[in-house]
Amino acid sequence: MNPYRALLVLLAAAFVPVFAVAQEAPATDTYVPTVLVTGANKGIGLEFVRQYAARGARVIATARNPGDAADLNALAAANPRVIIEPLDVTDHAAIDALAAKYAGTAIDLLINNAGISGSAQNQVFGRMKYDAFEEVLRVNTIGPLKMAEAFMPHVQASRDKRIVAVSSSEGSIGKVNSARLYFYRTSKAALNMEMKNLAYQVKSKGVSIGLLNPGMVDTDLMKGLPKSMLRPPADAVRDMMRNIDTLTVANTASFWEYDGTILPW
Ligand SMILES: NC(=O)c1ccc[n+]([C@@H]2O[C@H](COP(=O)([O-])OP(=O)(O)OC[C@H]3O[C@@H](n4cnc5c(N)ncnc54)[C@H](OP(=O)(O)O)[C@@H]3O)[C@@H](O)[C@H]2O)c1
Repeated sequence: MNPYRALLVLLAAAFVPVFAVAQEAPATDTYVPTVLVTGANKGIGLEFVRQYAARGARVIATARNPGDAADLNALAAANPRVIIEPLDVTDHAAIDALAAKYAGTAIDLLINNAGISGSAQNQVFGRMKYDAFEEVLRVNTIGPLKMAEAFMPHVQASRDKRIVAVSSSEGSIGKVNSARLYFYRTSKAALNMEMKNLAYQVKSKGVSIGLLNPGMVDTDLMKGLPKSMLRPPADAVRDMMRNIDTLTVANTASFWEYDGTILPW
């Protein structure tokens, strides 16, 4: 063998096993997937924790103030696979620190769930509160991208390699036919764009990206609306999980209505 070819063979032997370990988690019947959820202390995020934990997944449940999260703490007390971590998604140093803490841990599914409406009274044309707009963008749009960036190595090292964001049909430009919620709608439309962009960034690495609309759900975000218009969080999360289960690189960048149909951008 000529010396150049011998060197190539040696290099391949040295690097291929390491690369393979970093890329592939074992696909066995006993495999326990890991799910990371933001905004896990209440509403839809808490329900994601409950349902993935009930399925047997390990769940890293993040919340701004875990000390105030009684329901989440009760879930963790009853299930050792639920781990609670403090995290504000606008704090990029904290996101990096959490990613470093879990370096080497495969995360099968990152759920960017944390979100705020920005309050309807702050986003009325003629008396816009632009500070509130900036905060909505920090939470709903910038936070999910930063989370995806920081946790990409963990997701790439997992078996399922999925990232989803809880978007909203309010972010569908194609569905707009009346004026309301400038900040919230804009933040979700921008979330959709950045996640679709990301989908093409990471497709070749086997990572798939999904956007989910939960429908109108009975949480604090919808406080004040008649209960008869709202779906229970348990139903919304069950439906979103059904869509997440089908997410692969073949249908990456889908914007799913909770019933599995595709929403217009
Ligand atoms: N409910 C609906 O009908 C509906 C419809 C479409 C889309 N969505 C989306 O669903 C997601 C969850 O909302 P929800 O309905 O469950 O509302 P929610 O009950 O108000 O929950 C929002 C969650 O986001 C967290 N959060 C807010 N700012 C945060 C920050 N800076 N860092 C970390 N977490 C933060 C909240 O934590 P704190 O308790 O600490 O504030 C809370 O856990 C949002 O992205 C929302 O836009 C909801």
